[in-house]
Amino acid sequence: MNYRHAFHAGNFADVIKHVLLTRMLVHLSHKDKPFRAIDTHAGIGLYDLQGDEATRTGEWRAGIALVEDRFEPAVERLLEPYRQVITTTRSRGGPLAYPGSPAIMAALLRPGDRAVFVEKHPEDADRLASHFRQVRNATVMHLDGWTALKSLVPPKERRGLVLIDPPYEEVGELERAGERILRAVGKWRTGLFALWYPIKNMAAVESFYAALVPCLDLRTLRLEILVDDPAVDTRLNGSGLLVVNPPWTLSEEAEILLPALAQRLARGRYAHARCELVAGSL
Ligand SMILES: C[S@@+](CC[C@H](N)C(=O)[O-])C[C@H]1O[C@@H](n2cnc3c(N)ncnc32)[C@H](O)[C@@H]1O
Repeated sequence: MNYRHAFHAGNFADVIKHVLLTRMLVHLSHKDKPFRAIDTHAGIGLYDLQGDEATRTGEWRAGIALVEDRFEPAVERLLEPYRQVITTTRSRGGPLAYPGSPAIMAALLRPGDRAVFVEKHPEDADRLASHFRQVRNATVMHLDGWTALKSLVPPKERRGLVLIDPPYEEVGELERAGERILRAVGKWRTGLFALWYPIKNMAAVESFYAALVPCLDLRTLRLEILVDDPAVDTRLNGSGLLVVNPPWTLSEEAEILLPALAQRLARGRYAHARCELVAGSL
């Protein structure tokens, strides 16, 4: 386990993932019934962009730093919950504090909702636990996220979302994530599942979807941005979220958000956004 998210916090992929996460949580909070949010690969939950790791890569400068300036009103309206979490995080942790997915979930929980944050790396799990000790309705588990995925779904609330955000350190991890998500979806047919993946080249992503989609009979969205040309596949050119059982509003919101964010986060002239329903019907 070499991956440490502190080196990458606030980069372009985090921005996209976290903006979409806030939209899904906002949607879940529209109904009175409580929900559960599960983060199978949680990281440490809160980051300091002035810290040693983030400073060494400077990735956040091509991520959160580029979205500080306001967008047009339609985009800003959808970004508002993300901006609010950032403002709260900064008010507590300083001007370069950045929220990880657990902090975003914790911020958008209502008193009756619950969250479970799972992290396997022992030091990161300790730091995660220290960050969320005071949050009454959040539980931190030092555990393998895939084992947790099996045991935590379906939650007793029968409403909620699972964010699956592995580090992709091993060959074939995307395909394995696809198989595991299918198993989890089979156990919780109404759960909202969001799987994050990196994009270096399109061939790997296309073959992942080609294998997975015939096995999916639930509404599934493919949401992606490219900030650089995937023809050069030695670098991270984009990122995506596969979303099973997306809120009905998510595709419309992604159609507004993703092109604007792709344009803003592009490294050069190449920018691309995709919002496609790959399984199920509208
Ligand atoms: C991409 S980071 C998570 C970022 C976080 N979800 C966020 O958006 O702020 C992936 C995390 O998964 C952890 N990890 C790696 N393998 C794991 C496993 N098998 N189970 C749980 N966590 C794991 C890593 O230590 C790392 O903190």
